Amino acid sequence: MNLPTESCYYFGSFIDGQEVKSDDRATLEVRSPYDNRLVGKICCATKEDAEQAITVAQRVFHETMKKMPAYRRSDILRKTADLLESRTEQFANLLVLETGKPIREARVEVDRAVQVLRFASEGAKRIHGEEIQLDSARGGENQLGLTRRNPIGVVVAITPFNFPLNLVLHKVAPAIAAGNAVVLKPAEKTPLSPVFLYKLLLEAGLPAGALNIVMGPGQDLADPLVTDPRVKRVTFTGSGFVGWKLKELAGHKNVTLELGSNAPNIVFADADLDAAAGALVRGAVVTSGQACISVQRVYVQRPVYEALLDKLVDGVKALRVGDPLDEATDVGPMITEAAAARAEEWIQEAVRQGAIVRAGGKRQGTLLEPTVLTDVTPEMKVVCQEIFAPVFSVIPFDDEEEAVAQANDSELGLHAGVFTKDINRALRVADALETGGVWINEASIRRYDHIPYGGVKQSGIGKEGVAYAIEEMTELKFIGIKLS
Ligand code: SIN
Repeated sequence: MNLPTESCYYFGSFIDGQEVKSDDRATLEVRSPYDNRLVGKICCATKEDAEQAITVAQRVFHETMKKMPAYRRSDILRKTADLLESRTEQFANLLVLETGKPIREARVEVDRAVQVLRFASEGAKRIHGEEIQLDSARGGENQLGLTRRNPIGVVVAITPFNFPLNLVLHKVAPAIAAGNAVVLKPAEKTPLSPVFLYKLLLEAGLPAGALNIVMGPGQDLADPLVTDPRVKRVTFTGSGFVGWKLKELAGHKNVTLELGSNAPNIVFADADLDAAAGALVRGAVVTSGQACISVQRVYVQRPVYEALLDKLVDGVKALRVGDPLDEATDVGPMITEAAAARAEEWIQEAVRQGAIVRAGGKRQGTLLEPTVLTDVTPEMKVVCQEIFAPVFSVIPFDDEEEAVAQANDSELGLHAGVFTKDINRALRVADALETGGVWINEASIRRYDHIPYGGVKQSGIGKEGVAYAIEEMTELKFIGIKLS
């Protein structure tokens, strides 16, 4: 498989191992967010294609996947990891072209994707139930209780543009590890790396039809994919607006939603300010702030507020914004000009309401300068909603109680960061924060791919992180045996 960096690709959907594209279907362009060059085109699936993909997935699940031994599923995932690792540079270049993320970050995404595949390969061999001691209940003597974890069937995975390789794998790899079949709808802005990943999975031995890809806009395909009663789980990463609508459409199905947040990070006066500033700046600009756990609200204890603010402003001003293929670039473009303009408008609205721009704030096309705001209020959009851009606000606090109250004053709760040298306080605050995960002496952006990952409140339901996703993609069944 060759992945030239300058070609224009044209892909259709992939159903039962066959590419589905024809002149009578709509097409969409894939353009580089940096220079608008045409990178590829997709031929959009119809509602009938989506239904056919589910039919195929269901057949392949029953005929092949649910019977496939664990060592085989594990082998396929391990071989895919090896193939992907050997093509790191090609995939990284493709990620840069379709997402605009800087090349150094793209390599990290490929490396993480390789690790997800290896975790899933190991996880495939560790799926197990347990023995239940039935004679703990009166009358349970001379009986054996077992639980088994069985695959669930057809999984629909709908994935976002910001990590088009790794977030596809966070759904597809656990689904395969558990013995399911998948219909994937990748983000229409970044469909190319998912297609090349699919080709690797087939090369590694995945049966055709165990993974099917339907291409096109979510608003056209969500309905046939999510409402179909043959689908046993819908797993979605993306905006809260879309995610909660999908949950309504899904009816009684199991749903995993990984949605956004406006991650709070709290810096106490005893923290290592240099380390905190470095982690926070990085945490605000990874993928141009287009990550669900980007640093957005930084609460700083008043005695060190000015000192930390200076370090944050210096750190942000030192970032190189520009061409994502340039090794020296720290921050690339946002995914579209509309996304960058929307974030710029939120900054300007905050300024009209009294906020002060301490660094950045300007935009050229899709490039939005990393931006530091102060003098914000809890009602401003830049604080209370997910900005999904390289923009964060720095807010003073007096004591622990106030910091926790401000951090929790949000409908969202995915990750948080706490910086302090006092372990008792760190654990107390971690327990008090209403988020799915908390980092101590690290910014909210940090994620390893085997940790449980998922939000509370409006930030989602369910957990990813390979072992946790495998569990969600199996059904726990009880089997009781009456012994004679
Ligand atoms: C996300 O934006 O939800 C994913 C972040 C990550 O995997 O690092």
